[in-house]
Amino acid sequence: MRSLIDIDNFSVEEIDELISVAKDIIANPAKYSEKCKGKKLATLFFEPSTRTRLSFEAAMLELGGSVIGFSEASSSSAAKGESIADTAKVISAYADIVAMRHPLEGAPYVASLNASIPVINAGDGGHCHPTQTLTDLLTISAEKGRLDNMTVGFCGDLKYGRTVHSLINALSRYKNIKLVLISPDELQIPSFVRYETIEKCKMEYKETASLEDALPKLDILYMTRIQRERFADADEYERLKDSYVLTPEKMELAKSDCKVLHPLPRVNEISIKVDDDPRACYFRQVRYGKYIRMALILKLLEEASSPKASVRFDGENYILDKLTCTNPRCISQTEQELARIFKITDRSAGICRCIYCEGKQRF
Ligand code: NCD
Repeated sequence: MRSLIDIDNFSVEEIDELISVAKDIIANPAKYSEKCKGKKLATLFFEPSTRTRLSFEAAMLELGGSVIGFSEASSSSAAKGESIADTAKVISAYADIVAMRHPLEGAPYVASLNASIPVINAGDGGHCHPTQTLTDLLTISAEKGRLDNMTVGFCGDLKYGRTVHSLINALSRYKNIKLVLISPDELQIPSFVRYETIEKCKMEYKETASLEDALPKLDILYMTRIQRERFADADEYERLKDSYVLTPEKMELAKSDCKVLHPLPRVNEISIKVDDDPRACYFRQVRYGKYIRMALILKLLEEASSPKASVRFDGENYILDKLTCTNPRCISQTEQELARIFKITDRSAGICRCIYCEGKQRF
C-alpha cells in the first residue's frame, strides 16, 4: 500500500506513467468510467479549498466511485479535539482512499502512518502540495511537450507557497532545469527547499525581485498569490500583497511560447486581461488537475492491497525523542503523544529536520 505525502514518494518513472495514464484518460474517458465502481474516496478538508477538493470529487465520480467527507474542520470531530491519528483510523473503516488537507504541516503524514488505506496529501500548511505538482507537471508536459531543458520562473510568495516547494522538488529530478526565483526579499524560498533540494541537486538558479528582468528568458512562468492566511503580521501582508501584477504589457516581454501557469486562486497577481493570451494556461491547468487525480486514485487503489511498507526510524540516522520542533505550524505542536523524530540531514553541520514539517533544527 502506498500513500502520496510528498512528491518524492514517486520516482520519475512513476510520475511519467501517471502523466501518460492521465493523457489516455483525456483521450478515452469512457474506458475509465467504471474503474472505481464500489470504491469510496473520503475528502477530509480541515482548511478551505475549492479546486483541490472538487477536483478530487469530480475525479472519483468520473471513475464511477463515490465520495464522502467534509470541507471544514468545524464540521468534523477535530472540533471536539480528536487527533489526526484517530481520525485516520476511523476513516479507514469507511473509505478506500483519503485525500486530506490540513493547516498544520505534516498532518497528512501522521494520518498515513496510522491509516490502513492510502492517504493523499492535498496540501499541508505552507509545506507541500504534491497533487498540485502532478497537475503542474501534466500541464507543462501537455503544453510544452517536455519536462526537461527549460527555464522556469517562480514569481510571488515563494516562502509560503507550498505548490512552489513541491514543484521545485519534482523539477529537480528532470534534466537541465534552470530556476529563476522572483520574489520580494521577505518572501524568498524557505531553507528546506533551498538547501535540501535546489543546492543538494545542484540546480542552476538565480534570485531576483524583478519580474520584468526575468520574463524574457522564461519558458514557464509560474505565478502565485501572496498567501495572506500564513502571515503572522497583517501589516507585512498589506505591504507585500501587490508586489507583482502580470499585465498584457509585461507579457510583451515574454517569449512567444512561454507558458503562464498559476495554481489558483488568483487574487490580483494576473490581470484578467492576460486570460485571453494563448500563453495563459491556468484555466486549462484546472482541467488537467482532474485527470491527473484520476490517474493517481487508480494507481493508489491498485496498490492498496499490497502490504504497507513498515517505517523504521533508527537511532543512527534519526534523533528520537530528544528535540522538540519549534515550527508553530507543525502538527507536532498539537497531536497527542506524537513521537518527536528528526532526520539528520547534514551531520557535519549538525543539522536535522523534523520528519513531519521538515523544519530545521541544530543538534
Ligand atoms: C494552492 C494551494 O492550495 O496551495 N491552490 C490550489 O491547490 N489550487 C495555491 C494557493 O492557495 O494559493
